[in-house]
Amino acid sequence: MKRYDLDLVGRTVGVSGAAGFLGRAIVQGVLTQGGDICMFDLDEKRLHDFKNDLVLSGFSSDRISFYTIDLSSLKVGDCFDMFAESRCNCLVNNAAFVGTSELEGWCVPFEGQCLDTWRKALEVNLTSNFTLSKDFVSSLSGAKGAIVNIDSIYAHLGPDWNLYEGTEMGNPAAYGVSKAGLVQLTRYLASTLGPTIRVNTVAPGGIERGQDLKFQQRYRQKTPLRRMATEEDVVGTVLFLLSSLADYITGQSIKVDGGYIIT
Ligand SMILES: NC(=O)c1ccc[n+]([C@@H]2O[C@H](COP(=O)([O-])OP(=O)(O)OC[C@H]3O[C@@H](n4cnc5c(N)ncnc54)[C@H](O)[C@@H]3O)[C@@H](O)[C@H]2O)c1
Repeated sequence: MKRYDLDLVGRTVGVSGAAGFLGRAIVQGVLTQGGDICMFDLDEKRLHDFKNDLVLSGFSSDRISFYTIDLSSLKVGDCFDMFAESRCNCLVNNAAFVGTSELEGWCVPFEGQCLDTWRKALEVNLTSNFTLSKDFVSSLSGAKGAIVNIDSIYAHLGPDWNLYEGTEMGNPAAYGVSKAGLVQLTRYLASTLGPTIRVNTVAPGGIERGQDLKFQQRYRQKTPLRRMATEEDVVGTVLFLLSSLADYITGQSIKVDGGYIIT
């Protein structure tokens, strides 16, 4: 009888934004399930400290490499050596400017959102995924692989401004637009790179991180499972899509949102 295990032995997973909240949880999940890791992010110190923490908690240093990379100025070819040296056969495009990123003209009402920031967000949240995917695919040179892109419910929905009323929180146009582009890039790559490489996205709902309590309460009320997401909720689906359990899944966007999107 076939056993169905979520086993990542033999997979080396490149994770962008690996120093961030979700990135760190994905890295820990991959290592726990037997995969190796190549972490990359803008923030060298956080990557370095995180690797030390992982080694202290018992993961072998040989299974973890890290690279400092700025996705806002990436050219095709910049990441080829990183993928080849670390023998990545999986890629998780997780880095992005998010609601809490401190950029001018970002998380403010539409009238205040500025063009420079819109362009920068599209560069980091969308264009870098095109560039990284090209280098990843060339470094694989025909071997099997998997890509998981992290999108968002806001790739699929407009913001409900009632949630934000009376809070300092915002939802920039470029965020949802970049994530919607990523969903289409996923479909394009899935139909182009199959049958060798599977490409999917995971769309998390809002992750609870001490947001304004009014927002949290309204968000929970709208969500069938009556809570916001945790990083761990999202990691399970990422690991599943990287594993052989998902061998017949490509081109999909799986929502991990407690049902938010159906209301
Ligand atoms: N937090 C949420 O509620 C939520 C909801 C839906 C989707 N997501 C998605 O999940 C992913 C992770 O989000 P998070 O909440 O963990 O964010 P985070 O801010 O904790 O992590 C993002 C990481 O990306 C890195 N990064 C940003 N700009 C970069 C650049 N130019 N070059 C290289 N690295 C760069 C940051 O250094 C950071 O470590 C994002 O794609 C986000 O859009 C988050």
